[in-house]
Amino acid sequence: MLCVMHLPLSRDLFTLPRDLTWVMHCAEGPVPIRAADAAHAFLTKELAPWTLGVEEWLKIPQRARAEAARLLGAEASQVTLTHSTSAALTILAQTLALGPGDEVMVPRGEFPSNAWPWRALESRGVLFREVPLWPGHTSGAACLNSTPPPVDVDPELRLLEALRPETKLLAVSWVRFQDGLTLDLPRLYDGCRGRGVILAVDGIQGAGTLPIDLSVTDAFATGVHKGLLAPQGHGLLWTSDALRAAMHPMGSWMSVADADLGSRPYTDLQREWLTDGRRFEQGGQHGLGLSALTESLRVLNEATVTAIRAHTHELTQALLQALRRTPAFEAEAARLLELFARGRIHHLVGLHHHGRGSAFLNALLETARAQGIYATAREGYLRIAWHGYHDETDLERVCHWLQGTPA
Ligand SMILES: Cc1ncc(COP(=O)(O)O)c(C=O)c1O
Repeated sequence: MLCVMHLPLSRDLFTLPRDLTWVMHCAEGPVPIRAADAAHAFLTKELAPWTLGVEEWLKIPQRARAEAARLLGAEASQVTLTHSTSAALTILAQTLALGPGDEVMVPRGEFPSNAWPWRALESRGVLFREVPLWPGHTSGAACLNSTPPPVDVDPELRLLEALRPETKLLAVSWVRFQDGLTLDLPRLYDGCRGRGVILAVDGIQGAGTLPIDLSVTDAFATGVHKGLLAPQGHGLLWTSDALRAAMHPMGSWMSVADADLGSRPYTDLQREWLTDGRRFEQGGQHGLGLSALTESLRVLNEATVTAIRAHTHELTQALLQALRRTPAFEAEAARLLELFARGRIHHLVGLHHHGRGSAFLNALLETARAQGIYATAREGYLRIAWHGYHDETDLERVCHWLQGTPA
């Protein structure tokens, strides 16, 4: 049994009421009190700007990059602070030398933040192609007709087999937002590298709950308001040194050498572009949000993502085992338990509607809300997202809710 004493993230870090279960950080994570305090402390200084020296102001983004690098197992110099996942992927799309006849490939049914930045390149003659990951996999207007990922799903094989000579970039979600399927990045990277294809990852549904090895990606983009438990409005872009060198600068005044050195005239334009992640940042930084983000990342780093993953694994397994004995979800639980055993499912449990439609899922969400449980549904899946702050009570409440579903 799970024990409240061993939560990787103590409930005391948050203001989550005891009678409320928030299993929807896949939409929005709760912000730790410490992060709110840090934002408040920054704002207090903004009220009296003479207390906020330039040195201190410059340290704010430095601290955020450093804490993000610690969480991602990277160098701070490889991190670019952005406004969202979309902003990170847009930077990538706009700064890479992609032109007429080049192709960007994505799995079918990506969250649109990993579609529109690439679709925007169509006016430059760049091709955009979606690849289904399993038989019967559909999306868009037909998403409810899609079959869920089968137990022997092999998305990497499907993607690697679909690469063509004109494919220059493969952009994938690490953990898919609707069905929770987790892609094998080392295998994808291996296949891409051999063919000279860039592997870009939308990592928002795994960041903060799954450890990442960035040596098996070229670029990793994430917003911070889900598993990273920070307020909305920030994102991170990690790039390998080699990829970053091939990306054109964006043109911000803070992206050149000595930009923050007051002793050099601002109007001195004889400078080199920076080669680190600041190369793509856009002028002055959002001190308020970054103060909170840094503290959220600290909280996660203190807990460690490895411990959070182990904890959420216990919760996922226990939930699926309970649902295995619940007629309404028996088949789904069997499918997901098998995917879980194969390392395809982690903290995000996506229960497929199985022909029962969105009315069924919406009714379930209403029942949940009446019991103080906050969950979400997307594109035919009911989503339960576990994190390091969930305990036995949360598990019992979610099991009790779902076990009450008529077959
Ligand atoms: C896979 C995925 N990517 C990106 C986002 C969010 O994108 P952005 O940070 O650009 O708002 C979400 C959810 O909101 C998501 O599920």
